[in-house]
Amino acid sequence: MREPLLEVKDLKIYFPIKKGIRQKVASYVKAVDNVSFSIKEGETLGLVGESGCGKSTTGRGIAQLIKSTEGEVLFQGDCLQELSAKEMRSMRKEMQLVFQDPYASLNPRLTVEQILAEPLKAHGIERSKRRKLMEDIMEVCGLNKTYLHRYAHEFSGGQRQRIGIARALILKPKLIIADEPVAALDVSIQAQILNLLKDLQEEFRLTYLFISHDLSVVQHLCNRVAVMYLGRIVEIGEADKIFENRLHPYTESLIDAIPISNPRNRKERIILQGDVPSPVDPPKGCAFVGRCPKVMPCCHTDRPELLEHSDGHHVACHLYSAKTEKMEVSSCSESGGRV
Ligand SMILES: Nc1ncnc2c1ncn2[C@@H]1O[C@H](COP(=O)(O)OP(=O)(O)OP(=O)(O)O)[C@@H](O)[C@H]1O
Ligand SMILES: [Mg+2]
Repeated sequence: MREPLLEVKDLKIYFPIKKGIRQKVASYVKAVDNVSFSIKEGETLGLVGESGCGKSTTGRGIAQLIKSTEGEVLFQGDCLQELSAKEMRSMRKEMQLVFQDPYASLNPRLTVEQILAEPLKAHGIERSKRRKLMEDIMEVCGLNKTYLHRYAHEFSGGQRQRIGIARALILKPKLIIADEPVAALDVSIQAQILNLLKDLQEEFRLTYLFISHDLSVVQHLCNRVAVMYLGRIVEIGEADKIFENRLHPYTESLIDAIPISNPRNRKERIILQGDVPSPVDPPKGCAFVGRCPKVMPCCHTDRPELLEHSDGHHVACHLYSAKTEKMEVSSCSESGGRV
């Protein structure tokens, strides 16, 4: 069996909210609350969920761009939180980020050459070798090498995202954390960038943590999917299993929201009402309780644990927990909420 390249264990990232003249910590935004998962080499894990559920914070916490409150991030077996600043700098070579907004993530005052040279300089690659590495990576990312002297603002969104991907790949990392890499692009360009990411994965044997709120994109690219809600993972498993046999009512509503080509084929679906609750004061029981069409009395009081339902498919929902009374389940599954 392949060893996991990345292991996230009980990761918590809380942001303090300070109040008053003394700036005393009044409470915390629990952006990431007890998140655990692992990604094997060559695999793509899709991290999905609505806006504000903690996807980007998880990605940044893994890359050590944000300090975690608790928990461990193990990369190739090394705990990243225990590395010194120098060790972490050299580890960064192996782990790169691709950001959502190709307009904001590239400095418009720099040429492509300067943008691509930055990581090479930071990791002490000799000047004489830099040019060849830049030209090679431009080629694999579908960019003409004559573009090296042009400024980032002279490119279209899709081309800029290719530059962002080239910058991430130039040091030949093992893990790419892609945070909504196609969300800012129009649909035809999205497909090109997704295909590029897929090709690059095969060519360089890359491992991806692919963050997205768009499940149709995730379905196209990911081997496994983790669904996040209010800072926690509520369902995780093989992508095929999640799409065929989604368990959590939240996952069901996300999948139902994927547009389909023929609306006549549309079965009854769950339409979510309201917003994600505040991560400052999350509900005591299940975080989804206020919006769940299958809610049961125990959901208000007990937080469901993430338990294995079938081979590698985990879900945090009282509908599937052994502790839940059968009677309660059947009475709830008959309840309304479907439209
Ligand atoms: N630096 C910060 N200080 C305080 N709260 C923060 C900070 N960064 C993020 N948050 C809060 O943490 C929660 C999770 O934010 P995050 O950006 O991770 O969500 P997301 O799932 O990536 O959303 P989106 O899909 O909109 O990008 C949000 O409630 C957000 O307001
Ligand atoms: Mg985000």
